[in-house]
Amino acid sequence: MPHRWPPVSSKCSHLLHGGDYNPDQWTRTPEVWDQDMRLMKLAGCNAVSVGIFAWSSLEPREGQYEFGWLDAILDKLAANGVSAILATPSGGKPTWMARAYPEIRRMQADGQRQQPGGRHNHCRSSPLYRQKCQQINRKLAERYGRHPALILWHVSNEYNNGDCFCDGCLAAFRDFLRQRYHNDLDQLNHAYWSAFWSHHFPDWESITPVDRSLHGLMLDWERFKTRQVIDFFKAETVPLRELTPDIPVTTNFMNNHAMLDWWAFAKAVDVVAWDSYPAWHETGDDVAVAAGTALLHDQCRSMKGGRPFILMESVPSIPTRGRIKKRKEPGMHRLSSVQAIAHGSDSVLYFQWRKGRGGLEKFHGAVVDHAGHEQTREFREVAEVGALLARLDGVVGTSIQPQVALIQDWENEWALREGASVYLGENIKYRQECQAHYQPFWATGVAVDVIDQTADLAKYRLVTLPLSYLLRNGFAEKLRAFVAQGGTAVMTCFSGLVDESDLCLLGGAPGHGLREVFGVWEEETQNFFPHEKVGVACVNGNPLKLTGTYPAVDICSVIHPQGAQTLAVYKDQYFAGTPAVTGHAFGQGKAYYLAARLGMDFLLPFYRRLCADLALPKAIPADLPAGTTAQLRTDGHTDFLFLSNFNKTPAVVPLDRPYTDALTGETVTGRITLERYGVRILKRNGPASE
Ligand code: GAL
Repeated sequence: MPHRWPPVSSKCSHLLHGGDYNPDQWTRTPEVWDQDMRLMKLAGCNAVSVGIFAWSSLEPREGQYEFGWLDAILDKLAANGVSAILATPSGGKPTWMARAYPEIRRMQADGQRQQPGGRHNHCRSSPLYRQKCQQINRKLAERYGRHPALILWHVSNEYNNGDCFCDGCLAAFRDFLRQRYHNDLDQLNHAYWSAFWSHHFPDWESITPVDRSLHGLMLDWERFKTRQVIDFFKAETVPLRELTPDIPVTTNFMNNHAMLDWWAFAKAVDVVAWDSYPAWHETGDDVAVAAGTALLHDQCRSMKGGRPFILMESVPSIPTRGRIKKRKEPGMHRLSSVQAIAHGSDSVLYFQWRKGRGGLEKFHGAVVDHAGHEQTREFREVAEVGALLARLDGVVGTSIQPQVALIQDWENEWALREGASVYLGENIKYRQECQAHYQPFWATGVAVDVIDQTADLAKYRLVTLPLSYLLRNGFAEKLRAFVAQGGTAVMTCFSGLVDESDLCLLGGAPGHGLREVFGVWEEETQNFFPHEKVGVACVNGNPLKLTGTYPAVDICSVIHPQGAQTLAVYKDQYFAGTPAVTGHAFGQGKAYYLAARLGMDFLLPFYRRLCADLALPKAIPADLPAGTTAQLRTDGHTDFLFLSNFNKTPAVVPLDRPYTDALTGETVTGRITLERYGVRILKRNGPASE
């Protein structure tokens, strides 16, 4: 049953609003700090992240600390009712340190150390860098651990999977392999299929992850880097955990990238946080951008079993990435901020509070522009969000327990990139495929958890697992039990091909017993160019009552039913007339196989039919107009309904019962109009929606 999660800090029971604050860039003009405090009040900001890249201001020379500026800032924040999310500074190494101790810089494959400079580029194995981080973190925890402003530790910044080939990293990698393969080199050689091109490893010392021809090796290198990052993170947090056990610890994830196994990382943080930079107005399809962003929000909520997450960074207007950089159009800031809340965030935080005068990010969107006052569109839109969030205290800690799960797995993603690109080339498109299987639920108002293959499936009724090329140990058995016990599973072509080592499974795909579950054997997969046509026609009288012909793209497999019923067949190509979509009763459940890559025009009616057949809960009963969505957060007593319109034109949503507008208190019934980029937040008391 849903319940209310505790707020991230007992010191602050509001939705957090604010962002990355760099007062260390303004120490020459401390009057700016006072302007910041005035403007934070006006913008409705109640939390800022301080000190993320401030190491050279905190310790300008080795062992010489300068905390005066941070003392002043934290006191000002406390006096103004703004909470501090205090960062540890390891994301940016001070220049003096990078020069004095080259070992903290990453080593490239050619054996050269990187130059000083850049950021997020320290060696994770260097004992010296770990020690330096612990020293500065201890100082911060000792000095500010009891400061009234402090609510949360922001450890480092955006850890990544960049390579370092120094001796320390390679030794740690080999230790990791020894553990993984139980000290058995034969096991490792088999897992890597190392007879290929005569790559057999005669001893542990000869294993170096610079050769991409052994897919199992590269997969282990990615696993190792995640392990090492988590290890580094844990080392950084030792003084924090020891001195401030009551202050929660987090770091900002980039789960929009395949870099690290963020699902594994989530276990090490107290609350999940992520940085969201969607490409609004850049792709010509804001609705797809919205669905993709929603998926990532849902993923963060799912990582801790439904616990609300923190949107740690987002941009109030213009990012610095993107080929053509677009400012958010009027309304989009409010809509995208509320979107995060709708999917389970308890915050809207930005990069950045104030634009710096120099450096790479001097034009990056910020609450406060170089103009320095509140008379900008950007500031007004942020202040509007601040006022809105201030009325939503009741949302804090509410969540949702979806009955649908989408499996997007990082090990599978790495394996597709390393091991399957030799087959699918540019057609892999794993993230797009996941989004295609997520968007129909989003467009229907059915809540979704986004999980990985290690997650528990028992609490779901429908599980969709697009392009599940790699099967992690134990996953196929879990999926089999899920379906046997009454669950519904949907899998797409090119699934169940390899094991955890990226070794191809023998005996026909999908392997590990999934052929019996889905009742099909997949013989071959063909790649298509965009101009090639493959139609998929629904079979008359199919049990899902699907009709029509739909285009398939990129990849299509030839499959042979082995017990499954054909629901749709190919119309074109050398496999015309053979099955493209099948359904199979297995135990108490159902298993659907989509042998063709199909788009929204098929997937929407397909999933809507499954949702209806399973009577899965929807945020509201009505069918939603295209480009809109409805999301629900609840504590089991009060439901908050978020209606959002990502279209540039108004849309009408019919309500089945009266609600109260959560912002104005007025009663809302019947058909309500959402303006262009419009959003409404409604509430009602009672049990969570049926
Ligand atoms: C984030 C990073 C911030 C800032 C921002 C700009 O990835 O954490 O420090 O660089 O990007 O969009």
